Amino acid sequence: MNILILQGSPRANGNTAWMAEEFKKAAEAAGHQVTLVNVSRKKIAGCLACEYCHNKGNGACIQKDDMQELYPLMAEAEVLVLASPIYYFTLSAQMQAPIQRMYCVNNPAKVKKMALLVSSHSPNVYTGALAEYHDICNYWGVEDSGIVTAKLDEQKTEATRQKIQALVNAL
Ligand SMILES: Cc1cc2nc3c(=O)[nH]c(=O)nc-3n(C[C@H](O)[C@H](O)[C@H](O)COP(=O)(O)O)c2cc1C
Repeated sequence: MNILILQGSPRANGNTAWMAEEFKKAAEAAGHQVTLVNVSRKKIAGCLACEYCHNKGNGACIQKDDMQELYPLMAEAEVLVLASPIYYFTLSAQMQAPIQRMYCVNNPAKVKKMALLVSSHSPNVYTGALAEYHDICNYWGVEDSGIVTAKLDEQKTEATRQKIQALVNAL
């Protein structure tokens, strides 16, 4: 399957980046085609709610920033993986921006499954991120293929790597 991983942590060698890389390695080993995009390194602004896309734009966003690179990848992806640190009890702003910029096309055309990888310092801080993720799965009509969380003592561990491997196996 064509898998797109969005990685939303600015820390290049951080835990979220590690989780995204582990998912990529496992998915490629299973024969999937994987694209990993570090959205925190992209210039992606928030939605302007100008409605250009739904009026004159015919589905195209008026903002010509790095989201233009993501739209074709989103259009072709069959599996979408969101990898994000927890910032103030939810997904990072770097992850929220590309999600909300999908407003112009509403849902990614070919995505059938989604997965979520999240890292945090503390336990029990996932309610906001998980609620948003589940609501998006429902809204886009895609299957939730699974969630892996990693708090401080679970980061970059063999146990977490195995959870990611199991998630890939279940795709
Ligand atoms: C702006 C900011 C907000 C954070 N908010 C939370 C939080 O609400 N709960 C928590 O457990 N950790 C929080 N953290 C810690 C990160 O989620 C944690 O260090 C995570 O592993 C970072 O992932 P990374 O290594 O990919 O950057 C926050 C970190 C930052 C920089």
